[in-house]
Amino acid sequence: MTTPWPYPRWIAHRGAGKLAPENTLAAFRLGAQHGYRMFECDAKLSSDGVPFLMHDATLNRTTNGRGTGGDLPWSQLAQLDAGSWHSRSHAGEPLPTLENLARYCIANGFLLNIEIKPTPGTEATTGKVVGEHAARLWQGQAVPPLFSSFQPGALEGAKATAPHIPRALLLDTLWEGWADVAQRLGCVAIVCNHALWDTALVAQVKGLGMRTLSYTVNDDWAAQRLIALGTDGIITDRVDFFSPATA
Ligand code: G3P
Ligand code: MG
Repeated sequence: MTTPWPYPRWIAHRGAGKLAPENTLAAFRLGAQHGYRMFECDAKLSSDGVPFLMHDATLNRTTNGRGTGGDLPWSQLAQLDAGSWHSRSHAGEPLPTLENLARYCIANGFLLNIEIKPTPGTEATTGKVVGEHAARLWQGQAVPPLFSSFQPGALEGAKATAPHIPRALLLDTLWEGWADVAQRLGCVAIVCNHALWDTALVAQVKGLGMRTLSYTVNDDWAAQRLIALGTDGIITDRVDFFSPATA
């Protein structure tokens, strides 16, 4: 039996895909302006244990800093410019903490998929700390965030500190033993590279009682294929193209 599913089909990747600096509040606001009610974000830890939003392990691509983000304390990360790399109109945009985004989502009734994206070597700790923070931030809310990770160790950590917050295993390939790992972690969903889904895989995952989601879907043909396969969720960059009002 699949558990009830409170999340919408359409999820805006990193806030608003490539239309605003990824994983900044400006991006989530833009995704919301396009009608999106659920967002995916990437969360990792500063050296002093503050969960913040950034995709890459290093600061180089999406900030004016250099080196590994997880090596710096939050007091230094908070000074960085995470918008200028994208466009002049976003110059000075700060890196958000997970708490900043939680407040924005909760205040506006938006839902969140927190992809736990540990700095390599910090999988279990990142999962545990993100779990602790999310449990506190969403306490008393009707719908919790959805955790996901490519790293089973991160999901294990989140399960230890926030067992009530649902978990999903991210898969870029169907590695040996993925289904057993997802079951052992009590996952409610599998989030696949969209090209991996076919009739057999959808049936297998549904047979395990799990939901079926995809990343990162930016073409209409791909979205149509996933909807025809009966999958449950689509993470997209193209918030300006796909209407989240579409069933
Ligand atoms: O969570 C779905 C998707 O974001 C996973 O890949 O590299 O974009 O974080 P990536
Ligand atoms: Mg991600």
